[in-house]
Amino acid sequence: MTGAARHAMVRHAVPLVPASPRNKDVACQRTVCPSAPTPRAPLSTRKERPVTVTEETTPTSHYERIGGASSVKAAVELFYDKVLADPELAGYFSDVDMVGQRRHLALMLTVVLGGPNEYAGRGLAEAHQPLNIPLEHYVKVGEHLTATLVELGVPADVVTAVQGVLAQVQDQVVAGGNPAGA
Ligand code: HEM
Repeated sequence: MTGAARHAMVRHAVPLVPASPRNKDVACQRTVCPSAPTPRAPLSTRKERPVTVTEETTPTSHYERIGGASSVKAAVELFYDKVLADPELAGYFSDVDMVGQRRHLALMLTVVLGGPNEYAGRGLAEAHQPLNIPLEHYVKVGEHLTATLVELGVPADVVTAVQGVLAQVQDQVVAGGNPAGA
């Protein structure tokens, strides 16, 4: 995709939920924050142009395109609503602290989408191998996540990217998989 095409898309990207000042703070922990107030002169009138990473050249992450932290939070809420409403899956979470669980998944989804990496939870194999999860339950969870993203209007290429990551972690999550993911 060309830079211009990417920018056209970014300008028209509609956050899944309205951005609030607080959400902006969370979303903008990058060196260059597109939504931070800019006290400097506009790029076009500046004499010295930056030579490294600028607002114009920074690739926009999937995370930013879908609306940042607030959108990820909305996705995690809807996702777990679906998982907990699924009689085949709900049992896995009966003894799980869902507040912490939602936070973990939000942080992990943020990383998957190219946002700031603040995930400090256990590795996926460590968290899932003791649960003895069969392939069909892994597939169902993946379907719930895909349905969530589609329902929230996440662009198709982002959904495809998330599905790609799900495929990569399958061996770490499914019982008897290769925890190294090789
Ligand atoms: C498909 C990719 C998956 C991802 C990216 C994922 C992500 C996560 C994350 C980030 C955690 C928190 C880890 C921690 O405690 O620090 C977690 C825990 C957990 N996941 Fe998953 N998960 C996936 C699939 C599944 C599936 C298929 C199931 C069940 C069918 C499942 C059930 C659980 C449960 C029950 C916990 C809590 C474990 C505990 O607290 O002991 N997950 N998952």
